[in-house]
This record gives sequence, structure tokens and C-alpha cells, in this order.
Amino acid sequence: MQKKWIVLSLGLFFSFNVAAEDNSSTSTSNKEYHQTMAAQQASAAYEGDPSVIFPVYAKHGMVVSEHELASQVGLDILKEGGNAVDAAVGVAFALAVVLPNAGNIGGGGFMLAYDKKNQKVRAIDFREVAPLNANKNSFLTENGAVIDGKSINTHYASGVPGTVAGLEYAWKQGGKLPWKKIINPAIKLADKGFEVSPALEKKLSNSASLLGRWEATRAIFFKNNQPLKNGDLLVQKDLAKSLRLIAKHGAKAFYEGDIADKIAAEMKPYNWITKQDLENYKVIEREPIWGTYKGYQIAIMPPPSSGGVHIIQILNILERWPLYQWGQNSARTIHYMVEAMKLAYVDRAKYLGDPDFVSVPVKGLISKQYADELAKKITPKASTVAAVNPGNPFPYESEETTHFSVVDKEGNAVSVTYTLNGNFGNGIVVKGTGILLNNEMDDFALKPGVANIYGLMGSAANQVEVGKRPLSSMSPAFVFHNNQLHLVTGSPGGARIITTVLQMILNDIEFNLNPAEATAAARVHHQLLPNELRVEKPLSIDTINLLKKRGHKVVTKASMGKTQTIKVNPNGILEGASDTRNPDGKVMGY
Ligand code: DON
Repeated sequence: MQKKWIVLSLGLFFSFNVAAEDNSSTSTSNKEYHQTMAAQQASAAYEGDPSVIFPVYAKHGMVVSEHELASQVGLDILKEGGNAVDAAVGVAFALAVVLPNAGNIGGGGFMLAYDKKNQKVRAIDFREVAPLNANKNSFLTENGAVIDGKSINTHYASGVPGTVAGLEYAWKQGGKLPWKKIINPAIKLADKGFEVSPALEKKLSNSASLLGRWEATRAIFFKNNQPLKNGDLLVQKDLAKSLRLIAKHGAKAFYEGDIADKIAAEMKPYNWITKQDLENYKVIEREPIWGTYKGYQIAIMPPPSSGGVHIIQILNILERWPLYQWGQNSARTIHYMVEAMKLAYVDRAKYLGDPDFVSVPVKGLISKQYADELAKKITPKASTVAAVNPGNPFPYESEETTHFSVVDKEGNAVSVTYTLNGNFGNGIVVKGTGILLNNEMDDFALKPGVANIYGLMGSAANQVEVGKRPLSSMSPAFVFHNNQLHLVTGSPGGARIITTVLQMILNDIEFNLNPAEATAAARVHHQLLPNELRVEKPLSIDTINLLKKRGHKVVTKASMGKTQTIKVNPNGILEGASDTRNPDGKVMGY
């Protein structure tokens, strides 16, 4: 009994202390806060460049991607007079060859393209769609239970791919160089092959059972019945053939021609994607979402990505607090950040879906007034999950989407996140094409209240419907300052994309870190369900203990995200960083 009292009074004492501490700093006036910031920046300037880790600098153009060979393709295109769109299309096709776990032509994604002359940001949606044969019961047993694995590792896991149509659309709108010229480097890489890196060896070996089930897949990624190893040459002759057809006939080859025939033949025994589905596929150009944070403007992907909505929503909540003064990755900053994240993920599960099928209250979700309401719910102690029914999150750790960023010498920029969803998608190569298929159907809410592979919950708003795009978290982003492009960023990471991109934006605007420092900083994540505050290894144990005292269940797990970022300084100098969470990534500029 006595012991209980001691624990209880210690608890009360502590929460009182935390509350008192938070209130005192929350009441710091804006003026004081800006004075502190100005003083710190002035002293940094006095001491010289305050950076501790340096980005790569360039004057004219820059490409940042998850593979050196793909970044090289982009850089060559820029140097040959191509613009950011040309380079991005070249990089996307090259990544389909050299980053087979995530780069793709059998998947889908989103592109933001900034046209400097016209001061316009295009948001190009080439997300996969549910085929004509799909319906809301496609992944359920007769009794309404979710069929284990059907949306992950079978032919039914694939949505109708959008990548090839999306890249052609972007190039037709804004490219300069001939289509063939920008695809040629990818054809060469597929034809001649490239060396498997230690990172790719690890990915192949982790996915050996997924890939090993299909003969056409084994023929490419296995040697002597084992996945390829570091130093082996990965040659993809069929993929080179498919790319050649796309170079010659454009996206038509994929959606109506020879490749379409092969995809339909592969799918026929399963009665899933048909030629009709491929012919019907449409790229959609959307208005980006715009938000503001402390004088900066953010342009970001709208639904069917949830990323833009929730990054702006979280920034709106956080804008009222002097995070810079509280310190980057201090327990107090992390606490307020993750409490805001939790509120956003509740809304994600409830409201978000394909805007062509359901009405998503975007304006309300990203309004400053709504953020004022939400901020009132945040206290110095960790909130509970009471508002949402706990689900049964699937313990899956895929990090296999990919992002790349490009800026050209005119100041145009492209930010692309595209994916097969899980590592190597469903692991199925369409026979005779070398093309790996996505497993994006798992991003639908297969059954309201049942989590997907990222532990994400959904409602009827994200149920499977013919022609519908599954809800995504992919968040290619631009930040502007004084009407000038300031930052290009994005990341893979499933549910963690939203919080990773959020932290990149905060690390830049709020904490004044250069792209390399912003990338290296330890990341945190909370999506309410599961109710755990996930942190990366380098977060200090002192900070973790303070977070535990606030009531958080802190877990240290695998790294989160692989950001690819370019900062554009007011004098035009570019600073780039490729996330070393994938050591194959590379930033290249000239
Ligand atoms: O669209 C989405 O949100 C997911 N399919 C992204 C998957 C992903 O990022 C996997 N790995 N990082």
C-alpha cells in the first residue's frame, strides 16, 4: 500500500513538473523566440560555417537517388541539356533496372514537377488502380475474414501499374530531350548488367522465399538456386527488351502492345488484370496541396496520398510552439511532435481515400483553425488510444519504395516517390518481360478495422472498388521561401514516410540543419496504432527515459526512411544529401 502511494505521488510530482516546465516555455513570446534564433544564427555566422556534417554542393544541377548508376544517368541527361523532367524520367527507368526491389515499371507513384518559368507545381498521380475484376470482398473469405497473404504475395496483390504512363505523361508535359534518348541508359544497364552490391544482396536474401516461388523470377535473380550475391552480375535481358519496346512505341507498348499481351496472359489463370484494365489506365494531374509553416510554403502530394494532408496538418499544430528553443530531438520536442502525429493518424484512418470515389475533407484537415482545436487536446503527458479501436498490426518491416529528387540549371525541379509497395512487390515477374509486379492492393483497407502491412488502419473510404486508387503515404514535397524554391525532398518508408518527410521539413525550417545533418538526425515515429513511440538507435537513452516518464512506450527498431534531398540556397548553390540508410544512394551535381 505504502509503495503504491510513493509511486503515485512520484508520478503526480513528475507530471506537475513536466506541466510546469512545458507551460513556462510555451509562454515564451514570439519576439523572445525570434531574438534567440537570431542570436544563435549570428554567433554561428561569426564562427564560420556551423555545419557538422557537409552536404554535396553544386552550382548548376543535381540528382539524388538510391543508386549511384541511376544518379549518374540523371546527371548525364542534365549535362546534355535535358531538364529536370528529362533527368527524372531517365532516373526512374534506370532505377527500375538497378534498384529492382523498389524502382519499377510494374508499380506506380507520384511526381511533383516545378516549372520555374511559369511558377507552377504539377502533381502527377500515376498510382495503381484496382482492376475491373476486383471488389470489396476480393481479399476476404466467405465469412468475412482477411485471406492471409492474398494482397501481398499473389497475382491478386497487383493493381494496374501506372509508372510507364506517368513517366510518359510527365515527359510530354515538360520534357525536352527525345524520349528514346532518356530511356537508352536504362536499356544499356539492363542489357550489360551491373554488379550486385552488398545492400542488394541483403535485400535479395531477405526476400528469397518470396522471389524463389516463381520460375521467371528465379531465372533473373537466382544463380545455382540461390539469390545473387555481392559481386555477381545482374543482367536483365527481358527487361531490356521491354524497355526497348517502350522506347520505340511509348507507353502504348505497355498498355496496348506486346507488354500488355504478356501481362494479360500472366494474369489470365487468375482472372485478375486484363487488357481492358491496361487500356483503361489513366494518369491524373492534380492540384498539389499547399500549406505554410513559419513563413515557408510547402507544396505536397494531395490524395490519394495521405502524406500531404497529414504533414501539413502536423506542421499546423506544431507551428505554435518554439521547437527550436526546446531543441532538435529533445524529449519535449519529440513529445509534442508525436502527440500531433497521433492525432493525424486517427484522421488518416477515418477520412482518407481516393478523392475520385470518396469526399476527403482536405480543406478542413489542413486548416489552421482545425489545428487550433487539435492542439488543445495535447497535454504534457502521452495521450491514450481510446479514440480508436486497437487493430492487429501485421509485423512487417518493408522499406522498399524509393524517392529521388532533381534540380536543373534553370531552377526547375522534380520530386518523385514510386513503388512496388513491398520489397520486390509480389515477387512475380511477368513471363518474357523482366517486369516485377507490385502488391499495392494491400494499401487498401481490405476490411475496416484490420491493419495492412504497415499497421495502418482504414475505413470504408479506402475500401477496394473497381478503378479506385489505394490510399498512399508517399509524400514527394517542395518547400518554397520568398517565392523561391528552397527544398526538394521525399522518402520511402510505408506509414513512416509521413513522419520522415515531416522531420526533414522541420529539421530544415525549424532547426536550421543542412540536408546532410537533417538526414543524419535520428528519426522518431508514432502512428497511434500500434501504440508505441518508435525511435532509431542513435536517440539518447536520457531522452528515451524522459519520454517514458511522459507515458510513452518507447521502442527502438530498424531505421526509418531513406530521404533524397536537395536544398536550393538563395544564391543558387545547391546542397544535396542521399540518405546513408541505403549506402548505395548517391548525390551527384555539377
Ligand atoms: O503508397 C504507400 O504508402 C506504400 N505503398 C509505400 C510503401 C513503402 O514505402 C514501402 N517501403 N518503404
